Amino acid sequence: MSDEQPKAGLSRRAFLQGSGIAAAATALPTLAPVADAGPVEQAGNPPNVPAHGPGAVKITLNVNGRDMGTAVEPRVTLLDALRNHLDVTGCKRVCDRGTCGACTVMLDGKPIYSCTMLAIEAQGKPIKTAESLVQGEKLDAVPAAFVRYDAQQCGFCTPGFVVAMKAVLEQNPKATPAEIEKGLQGNICRCGTYEQMRDAIYALCNRKRS
Ligand code: FES
Ligand code: FES
Repeated sequence: MSDEQPKAGLSRRAFLQGSGIAAAATALPTLAPVADAGPVEQAGNPPNVPAHGPGAVKITLNVNGRDMGTAVEPRVTLLDALRNHLDVTGCKRVCDRGTCGACTVMLDGKPIYSCTMLAIEAQGKPIKTAESLVQGEKLDAVPAAFVRYDAQQCGFCTPGFVVAMKAVLEQNPKATPAEIEKGLQGNICRCGTYEQMRDAIYALCNRKRS
């Protein structure tokens, strides 16, 4: 609420009416140019920042070392662009709101929830999905350890976990127990295979579980 007080001799109603007219007069010059500016300008957009959409726009994503082009509406998430437009389906859509980790991919070496990022924002940075962890018949060490230690049941969460764990080990191949726990924290396994996952990752780090 404003600290401004009615001036002496002015009724509260007259003061409020006067304030409203003044506020409207202040707001109008800001809003008026937006109406003239055409459909691509949005209220509040800083000048020189291009707006996109609302129709499909062409984008290029670097996925697992390959440039892949498609066209998506700007509202499309990285997860949906990967799965529905580029047929990269290792990342899974479960909660679609940044809580379960099934959609985890690496962006520029860091694990992210691809359901919480727009596809157009992910351009220009390398994206790695679970598919990058298998070459032909050969599994990367992380998914291979998951197999060896029986670290999945239904397997639906597994692509997200192996990407998250790969990111941990790329940071530190001999990850500490604290780093391993931090890496596991962003993902949920509804089948409850956490202990087997820990066995797999500790083995990769040559660590004994206490
Ligand atoms: S689907 Fe993205 S965090 Fe659950
Ligand atoms: S193995 Fe089923 S949700 Fe993790």
